[in-house]
Amino acid sequence: MEYTVKSGDPEKQRSACVVVGVYEGRKLSPGARRLDEAAQGGLSAILRRGDLEGKTGQTLLLHNPAGLLCERLLLVGCGKEKDFHEGRYRETFTKMAKTLAATGATEAVVYLTELEVKGRDIAWKLRHAVESVEMALYKFDRLKSHKTEKKRPLRKLILTVGKRSELAAGETAVRQGLAISAGMHLARDLGNLPGNICTPSYLADQARELEHQYGVKTTVLEREDMEKLGMGALLSVARGSRQPPKLITIEYKGGKDDEPPVALVGKGLTFDAGGISIKPAAAMDEMKYDMCGGATVLAVIKACAELKLPINVVGVIPSSENLPDGDANKPGDIVTSMSGQTIEILNTDAEGRLILCDALTYTERFHPVAVVDIATLTGACVIALGAHASGLLANNDQLARDLLNAGKYAHDRAWQLPLWEDYQKQLDSNFADMANIGGREGGTITAACFLARYTKKFKWAHLDIAGTAWLGGKQKGGTGRPVPLLTTWLIQRVEAGAAK
Ligand code: BES
Ligand code: MN
Ligand code: ZN
Repeated sequence: MEYTVKSGDPEKQRSACVVVGVYEGRKLSPGARRLDEAAQGGLSAILRRGDLEGKTGQTLLLHNPAGLLCERLLLVGCGKEKDFHEGRYRETFTKMAKTLAATGATEAVVYLTELEVKGRDIAWKLRHAVESVEMALYKFDRLKSHKTEKKRPLRKLILTVGKRSELAAGETAVRQGLAISAGMHLARDLGNLPGNICTPSYLADQARELEHQYGVKTTVLEREDMEKLGMGALLSVARGSRQPPKLITIEYKGGKDDEPPVALVGKGLTFDAGGISIKPAAAMDEMKYDMCGGATVLAVIKACAELKLPINVVGVIPSSENLPDGDANKPGDIVTSMSGQTIEILNTDAEGRLILCDALTYTERFHPVAVVDIATLTGACVIALGAHASGLLANNDQLARDLLNAGKYAHDRAWQLPLWEDYQKQLDSNFADMANIGGREGGTITAACFLARYTKKFKWAHLDIAGTAWLGGKQKGGTGRPVPLLTTWLIQRVEAGAAK
């Protein structure tokens, strides 16, 4: 979709469609009121007939509205004005996009951007307008032989701002919204692709694709390279699979040469059957999404490159399958990680931390200023936080705060859990330096405690995205989270640096 930013009065628009909001109780938004005046009360007369109360989710499309210049007028219900918060604002755009796409209009001038959202400025509103529309129009049908190719003539949205002085901020916001959406699109596609297509080799090819598109530097370590580095934990997981493992590194250099990078480390487990500690059959197909952390890394680097952010970012993606096999890890097996620490594998299904710990040790060589790992790591996180917040754990409070704040701005929120020393003893092993599981209690925390043993050399945060990276049930599909959170965090780092 093409987006432009413009300021101008709604009653003067000759567009194919003008979009305005109506709050519950048929309360007209400012833009709707101006149209009503221009139409000499024609709009409120129509509403009095009872076709649109203004509840969220309601829409009313009027053709050739009397007294107005536009071909169509789309009214979108916004719910109670006093309850109109960030989530509602985004939902209004979702509804608008889906409704417009079903009409014959090729473009629309949108006044929903004028709706008041507490504490949010025009930049926030335009960015979230773009993201909500892009999210709503996403579809994944490349594996269907009959494409649901409905002619969608809608090509262009003109997002309005109240004053000309807001145009520049609006345009920057649109660019950011588009870059984040492009990243989310990639993350969702990769997540939705099945395990037989999206293998570790496929992910590596995607990273090479970014190299072609944006000139980032992609390096892929093969099994033999990992053997030389002593990545015994990662390799032990890959032994159960016929797909060769890959350790993918992508370096985005937008900053100064000598500026240390931010590192993003993403779990790229392309299918998790659990290994010998095999998972139950129900919903096991969803374990194709176990590479969403890795997809997030590719996506955030794509967004950085699109925005040409003046910052250095290195992405590291350990990638493997986790399957039962004659050569697979067995409960009780002990492996030596690249760090030298030994691990007793009491449950082969706790494989994410095994591939991540070696990737984290490998990340040391980039001397990162901060490291964030992203992983669909624990079912316990889904129980604790559901699908609304990613779990956040960190060994540095400032880093945690920055990520939480970025998540709030991005409407892609995280919630912090404690990383207290007290939990560490749950990982005690009788035979090795640590066990790979810490029991049912505080499962998300003990998983992070395990990773904490490999991240002592840097500022580090861990995002458990098991509940947020995809949705199950009828709306099954990747969400593109936490691409908005992380990209926003990087944008805000750049902004903070520039202010210094
Ligand atoms: N990929 C899973 C985590 C997961 C499970 C994410 C369900 C989303 C939904 C991870 O590899 C795993 O299996 N974790 C185990 C750890 C346990 C054995 C300590 C889990 O959460 O059950
Ligand atoms: Mn697992
Ligand atoms: Zn897993």
